[in-house]
Amino acid sequence: MKLLTFILLVAAVVCVPIQHSQKRQKANKLLLISFDGFRWDYDQDVETPHLDYLVSKGVKAKYINPPFVTMTSPSHFTTITGRWIEDHGVVHNMYFNTTTLIKLPHKLTLRKTQWWDTGVLPLWITAQNQGRKVASFHYPGGNVTYGGQAIYRSLGESLTHPDTNETEWRLNIDIVLEWFAKEDFDFVTLYYGEPDNVGHRKGPETEERRAVIRQIDRTIGYLIDSIERYNLKDKLNVIITSDHGMTTIKKAPDVNEIRLSKFIRFKNIKLELLDYGGFGMILPKEGKTEEIYQGLKNAHPHLNVYKKEEFPERFHYSKNDRVLPILVYGDLGYNVNGRIILHINRGDHGFDNKEMDMKMFFRAFGPDFKSAYLSEPFDSIHIYPLMCNLLGVKPEPNNGSLAITEGMLFNSFENSDLEVVSFRSDRLSGIIGLGAVATFLFLVAIIHVTYYAVLRSKREAIRERGRVAEAAICRRAGRGSAMDKVPSGKTGKRQEAADLEKGSDKEEWPREGGSRRIEVKNSIGCAGAEAMS
Ligand SMILES: *[C@@H]1O[C@H](CO)[C@@H](O)[C@H](O)[C@H]1NC(C)=O
Ligand SMILES: *[C@@H]1O[C@H](CO)[C@@H](O)[C@H](O)[C@H]1NC(C)=O
Ligand SMILES: *[C@@H]1O[C@H](CO)[C@@H](O)[C@H](O)[C@H]1NC(C)=O
Ligand SMILES: *[C@@H]1O[C@H](CO)[C@@H](O)[C@H](O)[C@H]1NC(C)=O
Ligand SMILES: [Zn+2]
Repeated sequence: MKLLTFILLVAAVVCVPIQHSQKRQKANKLLLISFDGFRWDYDQDVETPHLDYLVSKGVKAKYINPPFVTMTSPSHFTTITGRWIEDHGVVHNMYFNTTTLIKLPHKLTLRKTQWWDTGVLPLWITAQNQGRKVASFHYPGGNVTYGGQAIYRSLGESLTHPDTNETEWRLNIDIVLEWFAKEDFDFVTLYYGEPDNVGHRKGPETEERRAVIRQIDRTIGYLIDSIERYNLKDKLNVIITSDHGMTTIKKAPDVNEIRLSKFIRFKNIKLELLDYGGFGMILPKEGKTEEIYQGLKNAHPHLNVYKKEEFPERFHYSKNDRVLPILVYGDLGYNVNGRIILHINRGDHGFDNKEMDMKMFFRAFGPDFKSAYLSEPFDSIHIYPLMCNLLGVKPEPNNGSLAITEGMLFNSFENSDLEVVSFRSDRLSGIIGLGAVATFLFLVAIIHVTYYAVLRSKREAIRERGRVAEAAICRRAGRGSAMDKVPSGKTGKRQEAADLEKGSDKEEWPREGGSRRIEVKNSIGCAGAEAMS
């Protein structure tokens, strides 16, 4: 009876790796973390042991080109849609309406579905429509609905949310990792408002900013430890990035600051978005466009002024109905002020995305990313197809290309985006298939070694009780389901096995000895015993 139990156990064990390998065919999980305003080089003048560790354990991009306008919500939406800003339509941090003339501040705009739901689907929605479990934690664009559909789980920032509380940062990591570990989430986006906040208030080249980078680095250390603690190391990929950089604002008396009211009359303006960093837009009143354009055109040596139709193509910004007729941006460090100059911010962004101070940060690590891989710079639109690939999600039409980032991955592909998903899963299942066969053979070896040892000790006992009893045991073993589980290709070797067994009765079973012998041993089971009896 003990033998029968053992055989049933064997049957169970043999079945397990097959199920397991099917489960592993699923794509890994993905955590996207955004640190607002983390300029590409913020780790270079501060000790950042944990971010440095990730350089050796994962992927670092030298830097990432943000889209223009280099502003929080527009750039975050490019990352999560893979679209240029003119294509996704979230053209500013602030909701504005040219009919009602209403403008909403950034934090209120984060809850304004009308602003975000432009018909372009962000990855959360696409992924959950393809069966992934998705959440957003404070990520811009994650707290509204798209075509009436909300993100499965979404936490929106309160209006008074503190940006710099390290305890809260860690709690948020625990919450998100619990979602992955205990509720089997597939994709979560996590947002932090630093170092944008300190960059604005104190300026990027300050000790205060460096202190926040140290805090971020400790938080990354906490994340790395927590991933181990939650046993997610082999299933969770992590991308850490940002949305734009930060530059020190040039001020009087060092420079002649830009103030538009010196050049134009504001009573000719219907709606403007000014006093918001290095970029602004103006909707002149009926018939006043030319007057305002001419008033600004050569007004200041560091002010760039365009009519919407003439805005440079390379920005991929102006071909959208929401973009106002006149666009202005300052040279690096020159904020575009309207009526008066409010000296609130020491640092700012919104400038040309070509400027190095506007470039974004990028690190990635996890089971699908190579180690110590240094990527050349690329546009942030390419993060989207990378994320789709990692999640095994078929992308929406987008402006990115997997070809740019595939070198970061262990499996790199040459096919186009749409084909990539199936191509990759084919290759993946091929690899998993091989793994399953190897695992199976290995288990078969272990099982057989054990089984044979049991059989041997059985035989000792049986010899005392006589040959009749032994034959009975073997008949029972022959009916046992364990041997039925062995693939048919291996059971066909019964005779060969019997022959082999005859000659090796007195030998110790070879521990290592090639899969063929192991297979044979497994298939004989009772055959060997019968041959003896
Ligand atoms: C502006 O407001 C009007 C009236 O409420 C509304 O019909 C229109 O859709 C709004 N436009 C935008 C771009 O939100
Ligand atoms: C927005 O965030 C709040 C607060 O976390 C949450 O209760 C709500 O469900 C979210 N709404 C949407 C549409 O995601
Ligand atoms: C920081 O956050 C923790 C956890 O939410 C809270 O208990 C603590 O009071 C906060 N500290 C400050 C200074 O706000
Ligand atoms: C961006 O992608 C969209 C959707 O595929 C496409 O319509 C648009 O032309 C693309 N833009 C550029 C500049 O290639
Ligand atoms: Zn930002």
